[in-house]
Amino acid sequence: MINIAILGYGTVGSGVVEVIKTNKNSIEKKAGESINIKYVLDIRKFPGDPIEEILTDNIEDILNDDEVKIIVEVMGGVEPAYTFVKRALLSGKSVVTSNKELVAKHGAELLEIAKSKDINFLFEASVGGGIPIIRPLNQSLTADEIYEITGILNGTTNYILSKMADEGKSFEEVLKVAQEKGYAERDPKADVEGHDACRKIAILSSLAFGMHADYEDIYTEGITKITKRDMDYAKKLGYTIKLLATSKKIDHRIFARVCPVMISKEHPLANVNGVFNAIFIKGNVIGDVMFYGKGAGKLPTASAVVADIVDAIKHLNRNILSFWSKEKLELMDLKDVNTRYFVTIKYDNFKTAVEEVRSIFGEVEVIQLDDVEGEFAFITLEETEGIINEKINVLKDKEEIKEISSTIRVER
Ligand code: NDP
Ligand code: HSE
Repeated sequence: MINIAILGYGTVGSGVVEVIKTNKNSIEKKAGESINIKYVLDIRKFPGDPIEEILTDNIEDILNDDEVKIIVEVMGGVEPAYTFVKRALLSGKSVVTSNKELVAKHGAELLEIAKSKDINFLFEASVGGGIPIIRPLNQSLTADEIYEITGILNGTTNYILSKMADEGKSFEEVLKVAQEKGYAERDPKADVEGHDACRKIAILSSLAFGMHADYEDIYTEGITKITKRDMDYAKKLGYTIKLLATSKKIDHRIFARVCPVMISKEHPLANVNGVFNAIFIKGNVIGDVMFYGKGAGKLPTASAVVADIVDAIKHLNRNILSFWSKEKLELMDLKDVNTRYFVTIKYDNFKTAVEEVRSIFGEVEVIQLDDVEGEFAFITLEETEGIINEKINVLKDKEEIKEISSTIRVER
């Protein structure tokens, strides 16, 4: 029998208890051992809940118990999670976590400690909720040189954007539902400002390229400025808007960014809607592969956590090697990366405004919505971000341009 302890009895923690209970027989057959949840740690009380008798608010009960072999950290946040996890690993207990903040910041160090102790630090649920993506990167795709990862990595924002586009709902209204469904982070700013997706692409980049991608170096822009009007333009153009997290190798250099992108309806990620996430990977041998599934929520996330618990049991005294060194991955300056932009402007005189736009950006096509006056949009030709931004600044100063209301990157 293997004793485990769960730190945090919130959305994911309660899901882990439920999954272990619901699929007990098949999980234990696959693990080759029976699983006993010996402790649940939380600062709250849960009167009447079956876990009440194994509930503790003292981490020392768990860390000092030699019978506990695996710790499941699903509290979230960097501290005290980092201290608890590090102490657990140093004392020879394997750790499974869904906490991307912790993994993005301290993953390389915690993997190193696990390796030195011949135990495991596993974090499948930290990216893409229930989607298996960490294990494929560590194992199935090791024959490849990966040169691009692009993903919809945040369920909350994809849920919001889908509902805004398909049902015309307001940002605030949909965010509230995402929170009620348990998709959003404790502070939903982490979702809507792109920080959660940024941590996830940092984790994937570190594993794909074998060096530590510092999430603070990654350009990050959220979805709070995206309007219903932007959605209408996108629809008219045969595009949709998604929050994409990308990291890409260009001539031996790597760039990474998180931002809303207008993508054509033909793009493989265009039809990924609601809380679903998808991760698109290009390798030099395998070509294109895509992973798809529920990116957030109690049971999908718990499914990934429990799969890691099973893996940790199967490799109790044997480290599963991960390729993520502490050496820093230097990222390219985004201003050197090629892109196209969708731009909307407000004007007084249509003819002069079009002339001014074309004098700077060339013969771009002008797009107008039937029910909107005094505004048009255009899509720039492909140039570096640096050059496009310089041109946008020149446009801003033109007399005829009253306001530049949207700038969104575009991909086919
Ligand atoms: P919740 O806030 O629902 O649950 C966290 C639980 O841990 C709460 O009960 C909280 O108590 C408790 N807790 C917090 N700090 C401590 C502490 N110091 N000691 C003991 N207990 C503590 O979060 P989620 O379950 O949603 O998320 C957990 C982790 O999983 C996060 O890192 C999140 O980013 C990640 N994740 C979440 C997904 C989701 O769909 N929800 C999907 C994938 C990953 P209290 O509420 O009183 O603070
Ligand atoms: N808040 C996160 C999301 C949870 O919405 O994707 C899953 O990591």
